[in-house]
Amino acid sequence: MRTCQSRQDAQDVAKPYQPEGENESRLEEQLRHIRHKLLVMSGKGGVGKTSVAVYLALGLAGRGYQVGLLDVDLHGPDVPRMLGISGRFEMDAEGYLIPHRYNERLQVVSIECLLHDRDAAVIWRGPLKHKYIQQSMSQVNWGELDFLVIDSPPGTGDEPLSVAHTISGVQAVIVTTPQEISLADVRKTIDFCRKVGMPILGLVENMSGLICPHCGKEIRLFSQGGGQKTAALMKVPLLASLPFDLRVVESGDAGKPLLAAADKSPFLKAFTGLVDEVEQRLKPHQERPAEDLCKSVIGGSHECV
Ligand SMILES: Nc1ncnc2c1ncn2[C@@H]1O[C@H](COP(=O)(O)OP(=O)(O)OP(=O)(O)O)[C@@H](O)[C@H]1O
Ligand SMILES: [Mg+2]
Repeated sequence: MRTCQSRQDAQDVAKPYQPEGENESRLEEQLRHIRHKLLVMSGKGGVGKTSVAVYLALGLAGRGYQVGLLDVDLHGPDVPRMLGISGRFEMDAEGYLIPHRYNERLQVVSIECLLHDRDAAVIWRGPLKHKYIQQSMSQVNWGELDFLVIDSPPGTGDEPLSVAHTISGVQAVIVTTPQEISLADVRKTIDFCRKVGMPILGLVENMSGLICPHCGKEIRLFSQGGGQKTAALMKVPLLASLPFDLRVVESGDAGKPLLAAADKSPFLKAFTGLVDEVEQRLKPHQERPAEDLCKSVIGGSHECV
């Protein structure tokens, strides 16, 4: 069996396994089996894209959906670290890559799982990145998915552009922090989406305030209300405002995401609202057979009412 560890390095990933034409029809076939595709992006670095992508994927999987999480941040892939996953990919009998299975409903693909050395830099120009992103869809056996969540690097460069060109039907979830310097970049991101014809599902304001763990009062870290104002000005929905929560940092560093049941976190509480919004706006329930829905939402262990 071939594994990524047997490869020299990630450069190999850019070499097509099959002729382009076959790759393309395989890509279209894969995309037909994915109901909703969401690109988590921002104009600025460090605003919480990966955290939002990871918790959105976990939240949707927790509600019974089949979810794929694709990391296209090729120079700083943080998804595996935040989820605490490492190791190798395997290939199926037909030579397609099998994503890392985080749990029964969440599959993950990141370039880091293809690197010989986790700390090696990926030094690629646009065409290689584009090919990698195409192959992340055409050469990976994603199966049937309700959602594909894609984590991107900051800005409006090669990776989001390739996603826009490769993954038809993809919608943007734009993350920002509330201060003007971040919002200025977000306006560019919104402009990018409009220019490439990518619908915007909405804006997420992250780190919107810190609830003091001692007194419970809110401390405004990066001013307040900027996300709401920008959303209104740019005529995009504000999906959620997520507070700063020290446990998000700790759990991200430890590779152990917070769990809704165990961790009484203000971030998770607000995040539930974000998952509600995404679910409601995309209404995936209505597109699924009733029997299938009952099984997935309640894990098949109860009667459907
Ligand atoms: N709401 C939050 N509360 C506390 N810490 C947070 C919150 N959101 C993100 N963080 C922390 O901020 C840091 C940056 O977050 P993250 O990596 O998700 O940002 P990013 O936008 O993906 O960064 P990059 O642009 O480098 O890819 C991480 O340490 C993460 O744990
Ligand atoms: Mg990131």
